[in-house]
Amino acid sequence: MGLTLSRPDLISLAAGFTDNEFLPVRETREIVRELLSNPGKGRPTLQYGVTPGDAPLRRLTAERLRRLDGMGDGSAALDPRQVLISGGSQQMLYMTTEALCDPDDIVLVEDPTYFVYLGILQSHGIRARGVQVDRDGLDLDHLSKTLEQLKRSGAIGRVKMLYVVSYFHNPTGLTMSLEKKRAALTLLRGYERAAGHPIYLLEDAAYRELRFQGEDVPSALAIRGAAGRVVYAGTYSKPFATGIRVGFGVLPEPLLTAVTRIKGNHDFGTSNLAQKILARALSGGVYDAHLERLRRRYALKSAAMLKAFETHMPSAVDWWTPDGGLYFWVRLPPGLAAGRNSRVFQEAVRAGVLYVPGELCYAADPSRPIPVNEMRVSFGGAKLADIPEGVARLGRVLTRMVRRT
Ligand SMILES: Cc1ncc(COP(=O)(O)O)c(C=O)c1O
Repeated sequence: MGLTLSRPDLISLAAGFTDNEFLPVRETREIVRELLSNPGKGRPTLQYGVTPGDAPLRRLTAERLRRLDGMGDGSAALDPRQVLISGGSQQMLYMTTEALCDPDDIVLVEDPTYFVYLGILQSHGIRARGVQVDRDGLDLDHLSKTLEQLKRSGAIGRVKMLYVVSYFHNPTGLTMSLEKKRAALTLLRGYERAAGHPIYLLEDAAYRELRFQGEDVPSALAIRGAAGRVVYAGTYSKPFATGIRVGFGVLPEPLLTAVTRIKGNHDFGTSNLAQKILARALSGGVYDAHLERLRRRYALKSAAMLKAFETHMPSAVDWWTPDGGLYFWVRLPPGLAAGRNSRVFQEAVRAGVLYVPGELCYAADPSRPIPVNEMRVSFGGAKLADIPEGVARLGRVLTRMVRRT
């Protein structure tokens, strides 16, 4: 971010920002005007709320999830009382982890994973164990082997949960199938007796609504019999406005009570103004209309990036193309490093393009070396017109570097 500010010529394909030109400024202005149109409406909007969140927003969130997951209206499987509103989903990830884990506990994570989550683990002294992913997402065999190995080494009692970014994964862009979620939950269940406590699945669905091709996949909440072990973290940041920063969790008891208490200690409730803006956007159709425009926009940007990759990347480089979200995952030949201190990174900056080195997305897990030849390349924040030039700059650097290796 610092580099981007100091070098306006730089094209950043690094930041996980959403499209700046498509933020819903006019829509939000109209909603705020209406919310504050008279003292009767305006006062509750500008007052403190309650810790679990605005009741209409919790109801609308539960209804939306039921619809997305194909559950009938009024389904007992998802009660609005299980919904806890948070300051972005980031806060939900933080609170859930804090509620469940003690220092030295173990959280299983995809390898690679969302690097900010790794920061949460690190700051609590919690160990991360990486579970391999391939083009199909989480490698269930490796999950099974990892659990077995933790059991044999006597560490299974330390395992509290598996954290997955299940839609258009950050950083790889992959989506986890329902079958994989089901199989992962079954595997985790199988080790609960040895662990002596529940092992949860924390499903981070931050990018779920940003699908621009293919069919939505149900979340783990839709899996019969799994509700007691699933924590679902969602957000209105990415699909509406990152600056409003409202997220939510769906949690089973007793976690719900524990996390609500932590939320009480953090801030006793997310900003009422922010919540009411979202409730109004959701109930009035503004949110859905905006999402449709956003999806079309990201489809266009992703297609522009794909075309630029096909034109400018040397044949030794490959990439995973997403069906939604903001990211391509790019893999260089094994001998070519793309990390922060690499020639590739330095030359890319010199050429005026930024990416996220893949190595940052791997947990400090001593059981394997960290791959250094990968990069996360985002089409989210860059201007549509800059994407071909940004990729061309990267392509020229990589073509030169591949020739030298
Ligand atoms: C995978 C993932 N989860 C959660 C978040 C947090 O988003 P927010 O707190 O804005 O909901 C992000 C943000 O980039 C993300 O990439």
